[in-house]
Amino acid sequence: MLTRPTDRIHIQEVGMRDGLQSAGQFVETEDKVRLLNRLSKTGLSKIEVTSFVSPKAVPLLADAETVLSAIDRESGVVYTALIPNLRGLDRALAVELDEVNVVMSVSEAHNMANLRMTCEDSLKQFHEICVNRGSLRVNGSLATAFGCPFTGPVGPSVVMDWAKRFLDAGIDSLSLADTIGTATPHQIFDLCSNVIDACPGVEVTLHLHNTRGLAIANAMSGISAGIRRLDASVGGIGGCPYAPGATGNVCTEDLVHALIFDGYQCPVDLDGLIAVSCDLQALLSDPLPGLVHLAGSKTTMHSMSDELKSRLGLLS
Ligand code: COA
Ligand code: ZN
Repeated sequence: MLTRPTDRIHIQEVGMRDGLQSAGQFVETEDKVRLLNRLSKTGLSKIEVTSFVSPKAVPLLADAETVLSAIDRESGVVYTALIPNLRGLDRALAVELDEVNVVMSVSEAHNMANLRMTCEDSLKQFHEICVNRGSLRVNGSLATAFGCPFTGPVGPSVVMDWAKRFLDAGIDSLSLADTIGTATPHQIFDLCSNVIDACPGVEVTLHLHNTRGLAIANAMSGISAGIRRLDASVGGIGGCPYAPGATGNVCTEDLVHALIFDGYQCPVDLDGLIAVSCDLQALLSDPLPGLVHLAGSKTTMHSMSDELKSRLGLLS
């Protein structure tokens, strides 16, 4: 049965990385900085600012250092950036940052397509990253945890095994990513319950793509299983350039709207998020996948026409 905890649900914004890495166009650095500064003021717990990957692989985030040197920091917000390897760690250590998010796919085929290494080679880098991290927190992300675009379903035992190996490597927290939006609510509940049981004291984040429209249902299911941290992307933008068919993450304002109006403790400024989404829409030529920035929140009322007022006897 769906359970609603009384403790806080943390929302972690990934749109400026996961979203902009595969946007149809380059978003100017000053626009990224403005969006990030506005997002910082909405009560989000964590913001993934950018990624330190090869600029040849992801040219749309080639301005990572400039963005990180320009944004304002809000106290209480954890600022993180995705890295794929030790070169990414070197770049992260040279800027002001709280955390690195090290990513690896549990699917061998997707890891090779995305990072051009085997899973074992990725794990070796993980070990070295954990040793050389300095004061940075390390979050480990297990991509394709529910399915691979090339080889299909991924068994839960594979994910459990990699989660334990990540912990042995010394990561501080863990993310389970449904990179291609293939998971269903019961599958989410079962895997999240098992991972949380197997990793006591470790923060586990769910990272959900909405490729098949199940992301909010899956988020609710994850919360029932004990998840308290959810990644989300403003406007619902996103996708992995190396996962054919993948679309955006669960939309931040749609998720926050669902949580707030369904009685969860999610102290995030919904109107502020909608304003950022509208700002973003003005920069992108494709329509944003999110819905709430178009419809407004469920308390939105529309004004009546004079004819309707007259039929209701409301005109004097
Ligand atoms: N940041 C910047 N440049 C990097 C880098 C990093 N983290 N890692 C490697 N490079 C550079 C190397 O310096 C080298 O540059 P050169 O051609 O000018 O000499 C070039 O990239 C190739 O290096 P190599 O180690 O051979 O990497 P590769 O070609 O096998 O690619 C990755 C491996 C991981 C760097 C690349 O696949 C990548 O960046 N993938 C990220 C994909 C991504 O972001 N996906 C979405 C998020 S999950
Ligand atoms: Zn993603």
